[in-house]
Amino acid sequence: MELAAFLLDQWISRKHTSTPPIEFDLASSTGPVWTLRELIALDGQTNLDSLLDMRVSYVSAAGTPELRTAIAKLSGVEPEHVQVVTGAEEALLILFFLAAEPRANILLPSPGFPVNAALAHSLGLETRFYGIRAENGFAINPDEIRKLVDSNTKLVLVNTPHNPTGSVPANEELEALCDFCAELGVQFVSDEVYHPIYHGPAMNTAARLRHATVIGDFSKALCLSGLRLGWIIERDAQRRARYLNARNHFTICSNALGERLAVLALAHCDAIYSRAQRVANENLALLDVLFAEHCDVLRWHRPRGGMTAFPWIEGMSDTRDFCERLLKRGVMIVPGDCFAMPSHFRLGFAAAGQQFPRALERVAEAVAGLPRVNASP
Ligand SMILES: Cc1ncc(COP(=O)(O)O)c(C=O)c1O
Repeated sequence: MELAAFLLDQWISRKHTSTPPIEFDLASSTGPVWTLRELIALDGQTNLDSLLDMRVSYVSAAGTPELRTAIAKLSGVEPEHVQVVTGAEEALLILFFLAAEPRANILLPSPGFPVNAALAHSLGLETRFYGIRAENGFAINPDEIRKLVDSNTKLVLVNTPHNPTGSVPANEELEALCDFCAELGVQFVSDEVYHPIYHGPAMNTAARLRHATVIGDFSKALCLSGLRLGWIIERDAQRRARYLNARNHFTICSNALGERLAVLALAHCDAIYSRAQRVANENLALLDVLFAEHCDVLRWHRPRGGMTAFPWIEGMSDTRDFCERLLKRGVMIVPGDCFAMPSHFRLGFAAAGQQFPRALERVAEAVAGLPRVNASP
């Protein structure tokens, strides 16, 4: 079985080996990092000692009752609707694996999280891509999606807020798409790992929709990627039984300590979300200035949610050299070819912490050195 090279993670892993060393990480798509000490300090009742008597053994494959209850409360569903998984990535693996019947196709956003297409191809699924295009302001076109669906379509995936563009479809658009899929018996999946980080109107989770399957995680909006935890919200009991069975085979269950810390995190999720939102807001304001000052060459659609932007450079069809040049200045962004869109680059604006303003100064220096397309000789 062939699994496509994961160009994005190959690129990002260079941050451990680059010379000169990477000082500013604008490649990561997560938010401000929490230490275990900071996380535990959120909770007056938990101290290290209280964790020491934990049983280091298997936990329930669906997730501990405490964690399922906490995720259910967050999502406005019942605990039985929650399947805990080892990161959103396991959710994608389970959903695609179960969709992979002979001749089946699934619909994916392009660009999108590269794992989507790689997993689908390796499982023999036909992939049909709907565009999230710069010329359309990175909006989805629901009619394009509807036209791609046929009798072999098993699943339609939307990702909102979207990685890498930060686009966010309207509640009504998603609701209509979900209804359309439900009528045809197609599974509608909303990957919401960046919910509820928005930079315009806040959107509702698709977990409110009876026929939607929703993926969430602790890595992105909750900024705790090291827990390796995520979830699937599913009201359909038959589907849930299949997820549980798949998980029994794939990973058995998550780690007990991680689930315990995840419960603690959700008890204080307001504090975690507000920190991520504040950092994202402050850094977006700095990006506003950068893009305004270099608007003759640097273009973007301001992200409406999430923690990444997907800008482009006027007249540049492939940004990899530019990204390599920035690496030499100690700044890592991601070349668009990792998303099969070489004329763009991805910039993560919530992971670099206090360093972000200085990182942007270096980006501005590199941009200032770019040739201007319409500059007179
Ligand atoms: C849109 C999207 N979905 C899913 C994932 C997988 O995240 P994790 O497995 O860390 O929860 C990512 C990670 O970058 C992502 O960007």
